[in-house]
Amino acid sequence: MRLLTWLIFLAYFGGAGAEPGKFWHIADLHLDPDYKVSKDPFQVCPSAGSQPVPNAGPWGDYLCDSPWALINSSIYAMKEINPEPDFILWTGDNTPHVPDKKLGEAAVLEIVERLTKLIREVFPDTNVYAALGNHDFHPKNQFPVGSNKIYNQIAELWKPWLSNESIALFKKGAFYSEKLPGPSRSGRIVVLNTNLYYTSNALTADMADPGQQFQWLEDVLTNASKAGDMVYIVGHVPPGFFEKTENKAWFWKGFNEKYLKVVRKHHRVIAGQFFGHHHTDSFRMLYDDAGAPISAMFITPGVTPWKTTLPGVVNGANNPAIRVFEYDQATLSLKDMVTYFVNLSQANALGKPRWELEYRLTEAFGVPDASARSMEAVLDHIAGDQGALQRYYAYNSVSYDAGICDEACSTQHVCAMRQVDFNAYTACLYASGADPMPQFLLLLLLAALLVLCTLAL
Ligand SMILES: *[C@@H]1O[C@H](CO)[C@@H](O)[C@H](O)[C@H]1NC(C)=O
Ligand SMILES: *[C@@H]1O[C@H](CO)[C@@H](O)[C@H](O)[C@H]1NC(C)=O
Ligand SMILES: *[C@@H]1O[C@H](CO)[C@@H](O)[C@H](O)[C@H]1NC(C)=O
Ligand SMILES: *[C@@H]1O[C@H](CO)[C@@H](O)[C@H](O)[C@H]1NC(C)=O
Ligand SMILES: [Zn+2]
Ligand SMILES: [Zn+2]
Repeated sequence: MRLLTWLIFLAYFGGAGAEPGKFWHIADLHLDPDYKVSKDPFQVCPSAGSQPVPNAGPWGDYLCDSPWALINSSIYAMKEINPEPDFILWTGDNTPHVPDKKLGEAAVLEIVERLTKLIREVFPDTNVYAALGNHDFHPKNQFPVGSNKIYNQIAELWKPWLSNESIALFKKGAFYSEKLPGPSRSGRIVVLNTNLYYTSNALTADMADPGQQFQWLEDVLTNASKAGDMVYIVGHVPPGFFEKTENKAWFWKGFNEKYLKVVRKHHRVIAGQFFGHHHTDSFRMLYDDAGAPISAMFITPGVTPWKTTLPGVVNGANNPAIRVFEYDQATLSLKDMVTYFVNLSQANALGKPRWELEYRLTEAFGVPDASARSMEAVLDHIAGDQGALQRYYAYNSVSYDAGICDEACSTQHVCAMRQVDFNAYTACLYASGADPMPQFLLLLLLAALLVLCTLAL
C-alpha cells in the first residue's frame, strides 16, 4: 500500500514537474540585401522607397527592411537563448518591400536560399516547418495553384526538413503536413499556403477552393481526429482583420468564412494556430456557436522593423522580435509564450544588439497558460483594464510605440482580436460607435439629395 502511494506520488510529480517542450516561431525576416550605412539618406535601403533615412545604423532602421547583420544576429540569438528547440516555425516573407521589377524570380529564390542556409547552419539538427509569405513569390502575391519553378526550387531547398510526401505536395501547392518527430508524440504540423486566399492574389480570387487546399485540410484534420493526433496550423497571411487600422482584412470574404468553418468543425484536434504577416504582436479568438472560446491564433511579430506604408496605420514600425512557445509534448497544449526583442535604436547607439526578454505571457497577463480559455481571459483584461490594454499595446509594436491607446484604438484592437468573421467584426465596430464615418457620409448624402431636389425644383 505504501509503495502504491509512493508510486502515485512519483507519477504525479514526475508529470507535473516535467519540463515543457519548446519551439521557436519566427516570421517576416524581410532581408534587404542592399541595406547599407550611408551618409546619403537616399542611399540607405531600397525598402524605404522614396523616404529619406537619416542616421541609419549598422543593425537596421525603422524605415527599412532587415540588413543581413540583423537577421544573422536574430538567428544566432535563438541559438543562444534556446539552442535545442523541438522544432522551428518559420512563417515567411523573406524578401524586401520593393517593386517587383527591382527583384525578380532569381532574387526571390536567392534570398530564400540564403536564409535557409543560415537557419540550417545554426540549427543543423532541428526540424523547421516553413511557410511561404506573400513576398516569397515573383510577381509578389501572385501564387498559382499548380506546379511552378518557385514551388519546385523551394521544395528542393527545404528537402532536409520534409518527407517525400510533403515535397511532392509542396511542389503542387506549397502546403503540406508533417508528423512531429519523437516517440511519445501524437502531434502534427499543418503548413498552409494562405497566400491563395489573399485579396492581392489575382489568380485565385474566383476559385471555390484554390489548390483544393480546404478539402485537403478537412481530410488532414479528419485523419488526425481518427488517429488521436493533435494539430498546429501554421501559415503566413492570417484570416481576420489587421488590428492597427479599420476594416483591413487579408482573405476574400468567402475564403475567410471557409477557413472559420473548417476550424470550428475540427477545433477539438487543433491545439494552436500560428501566423505572421502583420509584423505586430497580437492574437485572435475563435468561438463556438454558444460563444465559448475554442481556439486561439497567435500572430508573431516580425524580425524586420520596417514601418508599414499601409494607409490608415500611424507610426507602424516595430522592434525586431523572436518568440518561443512552451508546450506539453504529449498533448500539444500551449503552456506559455515568451517574446524576445532587440531595441533597435539602442543597438545602433551601443554598436551591438542586445536580445532580451520582452515579456512572458503568463506573467504579463496573470494567466496559467496559453490555452484558448486563458487567451480569452487575457483579452478580457485588455478590453476591461487600462493597465493591461497599455501593456498589450506596447507589446503590439514590440515596445516601439510607447503611446497611449485611446478608446478608438482600443475598439480597433479588441474587435480585431475577438471577431475574425467579417460581419461580426463590422458589428463589433458599430456597437462600439467607433466609426462615425458612415453616419457622416449618410448626412452628406442627405444634404446632396436635398440640394438635388432643390435644384430639380
Ligand atoms: C553572425 O552572428 C554571429 C554571432 O553573433 C557572429 O559570430 C558572426 O560573425 C555573424 N556573421 C555575420 C556575417 O554577421
Ligand atoms: C524518398 O525519395 C527518395 C528519392 O526519390 C528515395 O531515395 C527515398 O527512399 C524516399 N524515402 C522514403 C522514406 O520513401
Ligand atoms: C487520410 O487518411 C487516408 C487513409 O489513411 C489516406 O489515404 C489519405 O491520404 C489521408 N489524407 C490526407 C489529406 O492526409
Ligand atoms: C530603446 O532605446 C531607446 C534609446 O536608447 C530608449 O529611448 C527607449 O526607451 C528604449 N525602449 C525600450 C522599450 O527599452
Ligand atoms: Zn511581411
Ligand atoms: Zn506578408
